[in-house]
Amino acid sequence: MKILVTGGNGQLGTELRNLAGLYPELEFIFTDIQELDITNQDQVEPYLKDIKPNWILNCAAYTAVDKAELERAIAMKVNCDAPTLLATLGRELGIGMMHVSTDYVFDGTNHLPYKEFDQVNPQSAYGESKLKGEVEVLRNRGIVIRTSWLYSAYGNNFVKTMLRLGKEKESIGVIFDQIGTPTWAHDLAKAMISMVIKIGIKTDSYSGIYHFSNEGVCSWYDFSRKIMQLSGSPCQVNPIETADYPLPAPRPAYSVLNKKKIKETFKIEIPHWEQSLIKCLNLLLKDKKI
Ligand SMILES: NC(=O)c1ccc[n+]([C@@H]2O[C@H](COP(=O)([O-])OP(=O)(O)OC[C@H]3O[C@@H](n4cnc5c(N)ncnc54)[C@H](OP(=O)(O)O)[C@@H]3O)[C@@H](O)[C@H]2O)c1
Repeated sequence: MKILVTGGNGQLGTELRNLAGLYPELEFIFTDIQELDITNQDQVEPYLKDIKPNWILNCAAYTAVDKAELERAIAMKVNCDAPTLLATLGRELGIGMMHVSTDYVFDGTNHLPYKEFDQVNPQSAYGESKLKGEVEVLRNRGIVIRTSWLYSAYGNNFVKTMLRLGKEKESIGVIFDQIGTPTWAHDLAKAMISMVIKIGIKTDSYSGIYHFSNEGVCSWYDFSRKIMQLSGSPCQVNPIETADYPLPAPRPAYSVLNKKKIKETFKIEIPHWEQSLIKCLNLLLKDKKI
């Protein structure tokens, strides 16, 4: 099977790239904006017709959550219009579309882990653009995987920021009243490949929404404390409230995802977030990527 990865230089795209060699039966083609700008219809259509992949794994996105409040149009173009184009062409050309979305489609008022068909109500421009993208991908019989708090050894993310602050500061304040689950992009990438292998070329047979994060639950404060502890930083982490750390884009106070559907459908085993954090930190500290 031939698999086209878009946004291949991002966190998730890079993790897929790292795993690709373990699956010689799959032919991966990695692109990022330089090779394939997913917002450019004149480029995307001939590219897909030429390459003829079985699957598109869309890892390309506009992910600057706060900046999106000021750049709504760009966020919509990348997170809604472009996936719509990929999914529409995919349906026409018989290419499966696996698209990645976010816990920020929820408003965070739940007290139980969110299921796939729980009420959505995005509170930010980013969340709204991702939700609109989801709707179009589903309309074209694609797969939408919602994930949360993604981190990896690549790009910018919370873990890398904490490691840096852990070296620079004696103490920091981290929000304790937002609850969710971190996701190591490596684990998500593995899950996506398992799904592709299980579904094969009958690409629209599992169309729908699936939730994926690591197992377990924590606040950003708990997550930060664990990062400091595991990396041996003496930096003191103090709990602060969301109100004490105002940001342009509101975040859901609670966005734990229920993963029963993806686990049962694809027989995927998901590691606890602490277990995956240890693995990612080992890579970061060993390779001195921080
Ligand atoms: N990061 C999180 O905490 C988080 C949480 C929940 C869900 N998600 C979702 O998970 C997915 C993967 O996130 P990520 O953290 O891996 O994202 P990322 O690191 O920001 O990677 C996105 C990639 O897409 C590229 N890109 C942007 N516009 C493009 C275009 N027009 N054409 C082709 N490529 C383009 C980016 O290039 P540039 O860097 O040059 O812009 C970047 O390489 C996204 O759908 C995101 O919404 C992320």
